[in-house]
Amino acid sequence: MRKIDVLVLLFALGIAGVLVTSTYAQAEAEAPIEPDLARGEELFELCAQCHGSAGAGNQLIEAPAIAGLPAWYVEAQVRNFRGGVRGAHPDDYAGLRMRPMGRMMHDDQKLVDVTHYAASLDPVMPAATLQGDAARGKEHYQQVCVTCHGADGRGNEALHAPPLLNNSDWYMVAQLKKFKSGLRGAKAGDTWGATMRSMSMTLEDEQHMQDVVAYVLTLRK
Ligand code: HEC
Ligand code: HEC
Repeated sequence: MRKIDVLVLLFALGIAGVLVTSTYAQAEAEAPIEPDLARGEELFELCAQCHGSAGAGNQLIEAPAIAGLPAWYVEAQVRNFRGGVRGAHPDDYAGLRMRPMGRMMHDDQKLVDVTHYAASLDPVMPAATLQGDAARGKEHYQQVCVTCHGADGRGNEALHAPPLLNNSDWYMVAQLKKFKSGLRGAKAGDTWGATMRSMSMTLEDEQHMQDVVAYVLTLRK
């Protein structure tokens, strides 16, 4: 074959590859899994052992409140636990408790059913447990966190940033510490975790985290 023919052939193969890939991507995007909430409610009995039947959490075992989180975020996080993107570090004790639960949802349909059921629970507003300087926290929140989590703390799906309003203060501080130390958000493939990890670097120490979180709680109406 002449050199030019080889180039043309490679080019054609490249185009074909792009077409095939985009057709697959389209097929995938066109067929989202429909959640079966009745099945999700049955599956949630497992989750309720730690998160409670109302999804309000249990601080003793560091299981966070999950009621009030949107379906896209709950689904993404359970996928993260399942795939070991989150909760796989040997020092992440709370994450290690959740990881096998993600793996039990190995079937995509089950994962969608149970996460969408969890997201359908009435939102909870866990009470404050920590002391923080909300005024100091406000300054930092409005400079940094606001970009993705919003002035109202309701998050931004397009940026994959979850709402923070229904979280417990102790859980948020624990996650900020994990992001900063690399227990969360440092794994290859964790694009959104990595985004948040870089933001956690703007927090000086644990007191600073408590201050920002104290401000987040004031955003609840
Ligand atoms: C054995 C106790 C246990 C069970 C059972 C359990 N979880 Fe968890 N879950 C946890 C713990 C502990 C965490 C906190 C992990 C961390 O600190 O990163 C967690 C975290 C989560 C998160 C992350 C919340 C957030 O704001 O990012 C979601 C979502 C979640 N669990 C959903 C579920 C679902 C759905 C089930 C049932 C299929 C389930 N969990 C079963 C203990 C459990
Ligand atoms: C550039 C966008 C961006 C900014 C700015 C940002 N975050 Fe985030 N944040 C995210 C994303 C994306 C996630 C979800 C990460 C994941 O998928 O694991 C997240 C997750 C979190 C979580 C974990 C919530 C949960 O339910 O587990 C907390 C807490 C949090 N952010 C607090 C903050 C605070 C406090 C600030 C300001 C210091 C901040 N974020 C700034 C994008 C951002």
